[in-house]
Amino acid sequence: MQKILVASSKGGCGKTTIATNLAAHFAQDGKNTVLVDADRQGSSQHWAEKRAGLATPVLGLSGLRPNWRDKIPDDTQFVVIDGPAGIRAGELAELLDDVDALLIPVLPSRIDLEASETFLREVAGLAKVKRGKVAVGLVANRLKPWTTASQEAVEEIKRLPFPLLAHLRDTQGYVMVAGLGKSIFDYHSELIRTHQEDWSKLLRWLKKQG
Ligand SMILES: Nc1ncnc2c1ncn2[C@@H]1O[C@H](COP(=O)(O)OP(=O)(O)OP(=O)(O)O)[C@@H](O)[C@H]1O
Ligand SMILES: [Mg+2]
Repeated sequence: MQKILVASSKGGCGKTTIATNLAAHFAQDGKNTVLVDADRQGSSQHWAEKRAGLATPVLGLSGLRPNWRDKIPDDTQFVVIDGPAGIRAGELAELLDDVDALLIPVLPSRIDLEASETFLREVAGLAKVKRGKVAVGLVANRLKPWTTASQEAVEEIKRLPFPLLAHLRDTQGYVMVAGLGKSIFDYHSELIRTHQEDWSKLLRWLKKQG
């Protein structure tokens, strides 16, 4: 069983978008997948409820109850945890307990990068991270690659102390499919396929950690 946590101290950076799309990717790949919602807003749980009627459902669990780990079925192959907004190092350390990989979404703006730098320092200081017991990677999200601001931000993200695993572009596609309990991996148009390719390096990296 591989456990992946998507977390950042920053609200609205794409945690739920990344967690739900990853969970759907694994489910599409025929894997038994659990999506744990550790955020009070419950967005991931709502998404999993909407997905329940599809051919490749994902089991949604609330991560707010202390015993949520006991509720994960034995035959689960992937657990994706959608971290709460405003998470601090202590709470992160608790969620990281039995996690194999931590993904941190980063938005390409100066203000977001500055906020992320503080969080990344906290992450780097965690005992489990220092001991190399959890793989940590960055996901640049909502990129507008045709803008100078976005290009410069990506160069800055590359200088951060964790590897940059994906460049996810800003597209209404993510917004539209989320409301249906779906992901970009549930569609096959040529345009959507180019967005799926944005995930290739990240998916290969996760395979190596599993
Ligand atoms: N790559 C993207 N392109 C376009 N819109 C996006 C993208 N990623 C996220 N969004 C949109 O941005 C908003 C915030 O994303 P999301 O809910 O995934 O962030 P979050 O980190 O989970 O937020 P919160 O801290 O509130 O839980 C949502 O409306 C989502 O649909
Ligand atoms: Mg969220």
